[in-house]
Amino acid sequence: MGVNRCVCKELYFTELKRIADENNYDFDQLQKETDCSTECGLCEPYVRLMLKTGDTNIKPMHPDEIQRLLEADEEVPSSND
Ligand code: FES
Repeated sequence: MGVNRCVCKELYFTELKRIADENNYDFDQLQKETDCSTECGLCEPYVRLMLKTGDTNIKPMHPDEIQRLLEADEEVPSSND
């Protein structure tokens, strides 16, 4: 099972992606408009990765791995693979 939502705010990445796509939001704008990633913050790197890749169901990863993917230009493995 992948990471597919901000648990604290019950916001699914599919919905966040739709909002971001419709309004051309970056992470900061999306956070301001939806309150995603404003409690525990654990979902923040996944929301950033979702915005970068469009993947709304991301395999759980070590924070260092997510950071590497955020900085790199490469395909992110989906949890559905
Ligand atoms: S899971 Fe998103 S702020 Fe906690």
